[in-house]
Amino acid sequence: MTSAARTPIITRAPCAAEDPLRVGVLVSGSGSNLQAILDAAQTPDARFRVAVVGSNVAGVRALERAAHAQTPTFVEDHKGRSREAFEDAVHAQLVQHHVELVVLAGFMRVLTAHFLARWSKRVVNIHPALLPAFPGMRGVKQALDHGARVSGCTVHLVDAGVDTGPILAQRAVPILDDDTEDTLGVRVHAAEHEVYPRVVTAFARGDVSVDDQGRVRARGADPR
Ligand code: GRF
Repeated sequence: MTSAARTPIITRAPCAAEDPLRVGVLVSGSGSNLQAILDAAQTPDARFRVAVVGSNVAGVRALERAAHAQTPTFVEDHKGRSREAFEDAVHAQLVQHHVELVVLAGFMRVLTAHFLARWSKRVVNIHPALLPAFPGMRGVKQALDHGARVSGCTVHLVDAGVDTGPILAQRAVPILDDDTEDTLGVRVHAAEHEVYPRVVTAFARGDVSVDDQGRVRARGADPR
C-alpha cells in the first residue's frame, strides 16, 4: 500500500537555531503552557522562538512570564469591540511581529472564520481532555464527573468549532479513585507542558503535514 502524498504546513526552508520559526502565543491567564514553550525555545537546538505574546486581558500572569523572558507583548481587549474588530487587531499585531504560527495557550476567546481564514492550519490549541471527549469548558471536571478512568490532553489545529479541529498529538493520564479536579488538573497540566513544545517543534521541522484527504499528522510529537 502506498502512503498518501503529504504537504508540510510550514513550507519555508527548514527552521533552525539561526532562522527559527516565529511563534505568536495568545493567552488569557496563568500561562504555564506559555512558560513550557518559552523554556523550550531557550534550549540550544530550539528551532522556534516566541516572537510575541498577546493577551485579551491586561495584568495576567502570562504577560509577566513573557516580560521575564524579554519577549514582546501586546494586550487587545475584546470588550466593547465587535468580534471582527478584535480579531483584526490581534491579526495586525501578529503580522507586525512576523508570526508564522499562532499558539493558543489558555486563550479564552473563540476565534471565528474571519480570523482563521487568514491563518489557515496555522493556529493550534491545547485542551485538557482527550478530544473528541469533553470539549468546551472544564474538560478536567467533565472527565471526572463522567467517571472516566483515563483522561489527558490534546493539541489540535483550530477550526471554527469549539475544540473540533484535527488532532495533532495527545497524552493520556490515569484518573485515580481519589482524584479531585485539582489533583487531576496538575497531572493533566504536566502532560500539556511536555507535549505542547513537541508539537511546536514538529511545525518548525516541517513535520506537521496534511495529506490529500485533509488529514493532518505531527511526526515526532508523540513519544512513539
Ligand atoms: C490549559 O489547561 C489548557 O488545556 C486550556 O487552558 C489551560 C491553560 O493553562 N486550554 P495555562 O494558562 O497554560 O496554565
